[in-house]
Amino acid sequence: MAVQRTFSIIKPDATKRNLTGKVNAMIEDAGLRIVAQRRIQLSDAQAKRFYEVHAERPFYGDLVNFMTSGPVVVQVLEGENAIATYRNVMGATNPAEADAGTIRAAFAESIDANTVHGSDAPETAAEEIAQFFSDDQIVG
Ligand code: TYD
Repeated sequence: MAVQRTFSIIKPDATKRNLTGKVNAMIEDAGLRIVAQRRIQLSDAQAKRFYEVHAERPFYGDLVNFMTSGPVVVQVLEGENAIATYRNVMGATNPAEADAGTIRAAFAESIDANTVHGSDAPETAAEEIAQFFSDDQIVG
């Protein structure tokens, strides 16, 4: 498997508890490099667009409210098999089901306040990265 890039968000529940560094340490310990990173406040429009795929789901409104409730850290991660590697270190969406040693098992508060986002496929990774970073802002 070649070197790949994935898109990550450290969510408001984590920035609120000052956990950015601890999450980043787990990312780096998993062999991934943080090749772009910016702390931002998502607008309502940005959060709605980012989670558009879930627009018809009952949790969409609460999800958008949560994602705009405080700062987030948007990131590009690079490494061998980065998409699956990051999904593995993130753990299951519901922290009650996340394996020990994963970011969500360690830090997530609930299925919605679950600390991190990671892309699920190469096409979504490219699309999500482009929502927040231009090529010259990513330094591998
Ligand atoms: P999803 O893409 O299914 O999970 P993942 O983040 O692991 O890729 O869902 C996106 C986000 O939507 C999830 O991180 C938190 C929120 N969500 C809820 O709030 N309630 C739910 O029942 C589900 C499935 C997701």
